[in-house]
Amino acid sequence: MKIALGADHGGFALKEIVKKHLEEKGIEVLDKGCYSTESVDYPVYAKAVAHSILDKEADFGILICGTGIGISIAANRFKGIRAALCSNTTMAKLTREHNDANILALGARMIGDVLALEIIDEFLKTEFLGGRHLTRIQAIEL
Ligand code: RB5
Repeated sequence: MKIALGADHGGFALKEIVKKHLEEKGIEVLDKGCYSTESVDYPVYAKAVAHSILDKEADFGILICGTGIGISIAANRFKGIRAALCSNTTMAKLTREHNDANILALGARMIGDVLALEIIDEFLKTEFLGGRHLTRIQAIEL
């Protein structure tokens, strides 16, 4: 499995923790930036990660900003991207099962690092259920 990571300055520190966590699990990481706490614009990183998914360079994306809101709004402007902002593990499980989310968005200033990693693990281990949920996500694209 390959994961594209992206964050603005508000998410940079958590992105580094996430990168280490994924690499320790043997998951390949594509780090699309940012690379410091210097102030940057989150749409740049949302776009880079969205393109990684759409170009099939990565299987899933993880985007992090201060709240997770701006970066998820930006990612969801790309057709075929379903970015879900999750603040607990139930949301992570259900957005994979029901929405086939291909990007997980996190708010680094909203949740702790341990919870963030639990949310990521739940997201990555959960499969899409298909069936009636497939019809619904197909309708999003119409
Ligand atoms: C950056 O200060 C902050 O606005 C950003 O990380 C994010 O929370 C936007 O939605």
